[in-house]
Amino acid sequence: MGRIVVLDDQMVNMIAAGEVIERPASVLKELLENSIDAGGRCIRVDVEDGGCRLIAVADDGCGMDVEDIRTAFFPHATSKVRCAQDLQGVRTMGFRGEALASIAAVAQVTVTSRPADAVEGHRLRIDCGRFDEVGPCATAPGTTIEVRNLFAKLPARRKFLRTTNTEMGHISEQFTRVALAHSDLDLTLTHNGRTLHRLTAGGGLVERIGELLGRVVADDLIEVRRQEKGMTLRALLGKPATARGTGQFQYVFLNRRYIRDRFISHAIREAYRGLIEPSKYPVVFLFLEMPPEAFDVNVHPAKVEVRFANANLVHSQVLAALRDKLLSMNLDAPGMLPKAPVPPPMPGPPPGDDEARRQRIAQAMADFFQKRPSGGGQRPLEFRGGPSGSRLSGPAPHEPAPSSFAAPARPEETAPSEPHGPSTADQAPAGAPAEPSRLLQIHDSYILVQTPEGFDIVDQHALHERILYERLCRKLADGPLMSQRLLMPEILDVSDAQAEAIHAHAALFEKLGIEIAPFGPGTVAVQSFPALLADIDVAGFVRDLLDRLTAREAGLDAERLLHEVLDMAACKAAIKAGQPLSEAEMAQLLADKAVVERASRCPHGRPTTLRFTLAELEKQFKRTGF
Ligand SMILES: Nc1ncnc2c1ncn2[C@@H]1O[C@H](COP(=O)(O)OP(=O)(O)O)[C@@H](O)[C@H]1O
Ligand SMILES: [Mg+2]
Repeated sequence: MGRIVVLDDQMVNMIAAGEVIERPASVLKELLENSIDAGGRCIRVDVEDGGCRLIAVADDGCGMDVEDIRTAFFPHATSKVRCAQDLQGVRTMGFRGEALASIAAVAQVTVTSRPADAVEGHRLRIDCGRFDEVGPCATAPGTTIEVRNLFAKLPARRKFLRTTNTEMGHISEQFTRVALAHSDLDLTLTHNGRTLHRLTAGGGLVERIGELLGRVVADDLIEVRRQEKGMTLRALLGKPATARGTGQFQYVFLNRRYIRDRFISHAIREAYRGLIEPSKYPVVFLFLEMPPEAFDVNVHPAKVEVRFANANLVHSQVLAALRDKLLSMNLDAPGMLPKAPVPPPMPGPPPGDDEARRQRIAQAMADFFQKRPSGGGQRPLEFRGGPSGSRLSGPAPHEPAPSSFAAPARPEETAPSEPHGPSTADQAPAGAPAEPSRLLQIHDSYILVQTPEGFDIVDQHALHERILYERLCRKLADGPLMSQRLLMPEILDVSDAQAEAIHAHAALFEKLGIEIAPFGPGTVAVQSFPALLADIDVAGFVRDLLDRLTAREAGLDAERLLHEVLDMAACKAAIKAGQPLSEAEMAQLLADKAVVERASRCPHGRPTTLRFTLAELEKQFKRTGF
């Protein structure tokens, strides 16, 4: 007799359940999606012990009649698709008809349901695949499904469940995803009788984000809306300063379904490139709407992954929408004044050291601002500038200042030779070039600039680095960098691996305008170098470049590599911290800032500018009430 048998339905369901139902949170996802598909407007979720003991979802949707209540729990039973063609245009969250059958195979389930037009409801109990009779009961229109003791009869699966806290974390996350995608629904979540969220429809998305993830995440989000080529995009973007250490606050929804997609993740990363440190993740809520024919959700039972008909188009649309918005904003980081409360001034006894110091600072600040009135005053400053002449190398040469004091700059004098970048309402007030009479270099590293609202502190190296980086990028977009033949070729010793790298990255060297020729055994000669980088140490740059190329694992994408090299070039060519600048140079730097994209951050994502407002200062100095 043969050893092979066909498994019975219960076994089949138990095995299938493994794919759909991994943990309590997967049950919640399936039940919530069913309630939404059923047209529920008000959905309540009650959970006990992280969902291991109970997950109950009650909705006021279309309900099921006596016949459907049973059928719903059969494998491959669905009201959402009928034929293969329906699969092309799925508009519901579910369609595979396997969730309820899977859940009922591995837990004790009670379903109570009543269609709105029925006089009474019905109830059915299923204990790990064993169906009771369906009986009538009194209940409100809608459906309630209670799932108890998940995996109770499957010790192998139950063993994989984590602590109540961990499972509850997953449940909250599932609830959050659905609640974000459906801010038009009333949703409640309780755990062990305690209400965690009570969300009412109509408050709007930002309010919902605040309720689910906290005010800090919801505050100050930048909104983008765009509609083109069949895609509607809405995004709420966190400012670069709010970027996180993990991708936990990145939510992407496609037709209200939470998805993870590497093309979209990549587009988000690219949009923020240079605005945040590479190890950080921006806070992003992205909602895409597309015709169902434009993608396939039937890739995986959990439907978190999708396959786009044209992934490249989706990538470029998301990237363009986010990037355009981010580049149009002024994203200078707000300066942080000390958080510790300042003790009230002590009456009577002479002020202590701290108090005396505070008063000195207050006086110095007051003097600084009084000497430089905000309206038209052009009094020359009394501080000493650096040696005259410019070291702000780059393709926008300017006249060296005749002395340490530059006349008030007019835009024509300070604007670089290239066309101005987009200047938006967002940008205009803060990005306007500063007048040189309001500039002060401190510690030969930072520039203090008075602004209409307060003052900015600019990191001269970081800002110049960003300016050079953007110029290099722009030049490169037009073709290879202009190359200059060196009067004396630079001779370098190279290892075999480095020689190989020169060969392998010939296209990169050509783009950069660096010409390298073999010179003898183990040596090469750098014969040409980009004119833009004329001031930097050629041999040192090429050596570092070769180190980077040989340290790379194979297959690094060429685009990323190129940008890394540009980072490096900009960093080497930029003015350094500790380098005194003349006023004209400072003015030039700030004028360039106003027209350079993403000037608020250096190419590594660190801020170039910290912004302080008078209002904050006055608060700190106790000049105003709170
Ligand atoms: N909350 C609900 N309200 C009304 N009908 C429901 C509800 N949950 C499930 N159903 C019905 O049960 C069917 C089976 O559900 P399910 O197994 O999740 O498969 P799917 O959602 O893929 O169709 C659904 O197609 C739907 O008709
Ligand atoms: Mg379903």
